[in-house]
Parts: sequence; C-alpha cells; structure tokens
Amino acid sequence: MSVHDAAKQKLDSHSRVKWETDQEDAFFIGDLGEVYRQHLRWTRLLPRIEPHFAIKSNPDPMVVKLLASLGLGFDCASKSEIQQVLDLGVDPSRIIYANPCKQASYIRYVAQQNVAKMTFDNAEELYKIKALYPDAELVLRILTDDSQSLCQLGLKFGAPLDTVDHLLRVAKELSLNVIGVSFHVGSGCHDEHAFSDAVLRARTVFDQAEAMGFNFTLLDVGGGFPGADVKDGITFEKVAAILGPAVDELFSPQVRVIAEPGRYYVASAFTICTNIIGRRTVASGTDDSSYMYYVNDGMYGAFNCILFDHQIVIPRVLTKSGRYLHGQQLDESDYECSIWGPTCDSIDCLAKSTRLPLLEEGDWLYWENMGAYTICAASKFNGFKISKVIYTNTSV
Ligand SMILES: Cc1ncc(COP(=O)(O)O)c(C=O)c1O
Repeated sequence: MSVHDAAKQKLDSHSRVKWETDQEDAFFIGDLGEVYRQHLRWTRLLPRIEPHFAIKSNPDPMVVKLLASLGLGFDCASKSEIQQVLDLGVDPSRIIYANPCKQASYIRYVAQQNVAKMTFDNAEELYKIKALYPDAELVLRILTDDSQSLCQLGLKFGAPLDTVDHLLRVAKELSLNVIGVSFHVGSGCHDEHAFSDAVLRARTVFDQAEAMGFNFTLLDVGGGFPGADVKDGITFEKVAAILGPAVDELFSPQVRVIAEPGRYYVASAFTICTNIIGRRTVASGTDDSSYMYYVNDGMYGAFNCILFDHQIVIPRVLTKSGRYLHGQQLDESDYECSIWGPTCDSIDCLAKSTRLPLLEEGDWLYWENMGAYTICAASKFNGFKISKVIYTNTSV
C-alpha cells in the first residue's frame, strides 16, 4: 500500500483502540519497495560496480534482510554489524570491514569468521593486523578531496598520497596481502567530479603498487552517493554518468570494483510521522501571531540527523482536525512557526522558522527522506522511546 494509506491505516487503528496508552507515539513508515527500486536503479546505471550496503546508515532488520536476499555485499564498521549480517547467512566474502582503525578483539573475531577484506590507512594498523590476522586481504584507503561533501570523512581517515609509498613498503616487509584501494569522497557528496578525481588518484596508487610487486585486484569507490534527489542538485544519474566511464577508462575488466553506498539505498525509503503534543502561541504585539509546535520525536531521537548529518528536514501536514492531507497542498493561510522536539533541551529544535497552516495539539506532521543516519543514532534521552517502524512495499 502507499505511504499515505499505511499512515492512514495506522492512525485509523488508533481511534479503534482509544485507550491504548501509546497511540500518539511517533512512527516511521519504511517503504521496502523504494529500497528495491533504488537497487534496480543502481544495477541499471552502474552495472560493473558491486554495491556493499553501508549498514551504519540504517541497520533496520527488514532492509538488511531485503538487501541480503538481493545478493548485495555489506560494508560493516564493527563486530555487531558484521554479526548482524553473518546471522542472515551472508557469506563472509560478501563483507568488507571498512573501518581503518579496528579494535584488536574485533580483528580476532573477523579472523575466526573468515571476514578477510578490511581497510587500513596507517602503519600501526598494519602491525596490529600482522599480529592478529596475517592472512587478511587489505585494502588501502586513500585520502580524496571531500570539500564538497556534507560529512568530510577525510578529517579522520584516508592515507595522503605522499604516505602511500611508505605504507606499501611496510606491508611488503610484513608480507601482508594488500589487494587494492578504497576511498570515500565524503558522505552527502555534492560534486560528482569528486568521484572521477578520486578514481584517478586510485589509479596512481595501483601503478605505484604494481611497480613494487603487488598485484591489486580490487577498487572500492566507497559511499557518498546521493539519496533523495535534491532539486537542481546532484543526482545519482549525474554521479553514475561520471563514475562509470572513469572506472572503465582507467581499470581493466580484471579489476573487481565495489562500492559502499549507505544513504543512497535508504534515505528516501523512510518517512517519519510525528504527533503535535503541544502548541504555544507567541504574541507578536500585532495581529499575526506565530506559533511554537512541540512534536514527539526530536534532535535526540531520529532527528539527530540535523546535527550529525547536516540534514535539512521539511515538515508537512499529515492530518489536520482528523483530515488526511498526505501529498496535498492545503488551500488556507499559513503562519510563521518553529517546531521543537519533546525533550527539555533547547537544542532540540527541528525547524527554527517555517510556515504551516494553523495546527492543533493532536494533529500529525510527516517528514520525508528520513531513512539515512536517523534511527541508527537515536538516543532515549529524557526517557523518550526510539520511534518504531511499520513497513510497506510500494510498487510504483
Ligand atoms: C567507510 C564508509 N563507507 C561508506 C559510508 C556510507 O556513506 P554514504 O551513506 O554517504 O553512502 C560511510 C559513511 O560514513 C563510511 O564511513
């Protein structure tokens, strides 16, 4: 059923169980059909590049199960992410442990589980891996230009190109098996040319490695692929049109190419519905009052994405006085307002200044494109629950 119908069914069921205590709780609608469509779009536009879903972006069990059944690989950052994927029966060869600085006990764990592929970007990590998992298949994560990305991961990870020679020499001395190169152009990348520039850098490192006697067979083009399409902004189509040809031009078909998309698969698949639990009228001294609305998920919950992922979230009216308005433009006056989460902290603000029709306590708002870096980092601060997910599977 459509997202509209799924929300309506959920809210209608509330009125039938009037005295159920949690009926105003915020909830997500997770659309598995949208995840599937994103996968079809990937295979159509980047057929050579094997996606390994970055589970950190949304480890929702239904999403992970669906992607596992579609044959995707997985990019995991920790033992429990790896465990979640292995528990589904995914073969260890379909996992890349893509965290350049790993806890020793996690390396011992992946050695036991035969999860061989892992990234590194410093010499100390090589010594650790030599001691704990000398047969690991190592992927050198290089630094790229992430200045056009929302989250600039290069501040923390990625070997500058002038350190590559030293790192490969250390790996050689330790007889470690380095099999290729990875990069990450930054999460939420706004410039498709960052991908082609990074592919060029990876080629340089392949050549350097070859000159030192390594036989590189893997290129990992990382994550950063756009999720929900931004109007007039970057789209997956634009990235694919630059990245696909760049890879084909610089890497022979013998090189296996993988990617670690996270937000691309899940951002547009989740909508959160929040209840207006309170309203405060702010006297302006003139006729046009403004309003403060309080809703029941916030910055400490799913909307942590505003702080950690620099997302801009957009409220829309789901119900007003019992009328369902999903996808509709209301033909009535709107008013200046701000929207706040439920906690007692003033940082918990979801929209400082926006415009909505006059709403009452009990009305519902919905927020689209809430699937990436939302639920996974939500806390229970102030005793509020993490919003649950109900699922649908749209077919268009
Ligand atoms: C190593 C690595 N791979 C992949 C991703 C996923 O990035 P995105 O969700 O932008 O595709 C991240 C995100 O932080 C990451 O750190």
